[in-house]
Amino acid sequence: MALDACLAANSDAGLPPIDVSIAQGRMLELLVRANRAQNILEIGTLGGFSAICLARGLGDSGKLLTLELEPGYAAVARRNIDNAGQGDRVEILVGDATSTLQGLLEQGRVPFDLVFVDADKENYAAYLDYALKLSRPGALLIFDNVVREGRVVDPQSEDPKVPGTRKLYEMLKNHPKLDATAIQTVGAKKWDGFLMAVVREE
Ligand code: DHB
Ligand code: MG
Repeated sequence: MALDACLAANSDAGLPPIDVSIAQGRMLELLVRANRAQNILEIGTLGGFSAICLARGLGDSGKLLTLELEPGYAAVARRNIDNAGQGDRVEILVGDATSTLQGLLEQGRVPFDLVFVDADKENYAAYLDYALKLSRPGALLIFDNVVREGRVVDPQSEDPKVPGTRKLYEMLKNHPKLDATAIQTVGAKKWDGFLMAVVREE
C-alpha cells in the first residue's frame, strides 16, 4: 500500500516520524472530497504522506501545491507521491514557506479552496494571514497540532511550539472573515487536534 511504502521510505531516509496518522490522512482526503476542492495548498510537505492523502481526495482536474523547507525531505516526498500515482497533480516548491507564500501572493495565483498547514508552529500566525489572502470565500483552512497533549492551554507549559499555536487561537477569536473550531483527536498521534476555519462568503 502506498502509504505504508511512504512511511517506510521516510524512515529509511531518516525523516522525523511526525506525519499525520492513517486515520487523520483519511479525514483530510474526505474533507477535500466533501468540499469539492480543486486547488489545494499544503504548508509542510515532510515526506509527502499528507500530500498523498489530500491528492487522493481531488477530482481528475484538481491540483495540490505543497511547500517544503528541506530539499532532502522534498526529494523523498517527490518519490513517494510519484510512487503513489499522484505525481501529475502535485507540485512541490522548496524553500522558506513565508517567502514562497509572498511570491504566490505577488503572482496573483488562482485562489485555493483548501489549505492544510502542518509546518513550523512558530509561524502559524503568519501562515494564517497568507492562507486567508490566498484562498477564496468558502475555503477551508486546516492547521495540525493545535492541542499538543493539552499543553496549549497549560500556563506552565514550556513547550516552545505552544506560543505560536496560542497566537493562532487569539487571531481567530472574533475574526472578521473566519469562522473556526478546534477538534481534539486521540490515536496514533496521541492527544492532539486540528483547527479548522472557513473563510466567510459575506
Ligand atoms: C511535531 C510536528 C508535527 O507536525 C506533528 O504532527 C507532531 C509533532 C513536532 O515538531 O514535534
Ligand atoms: Mg503535524
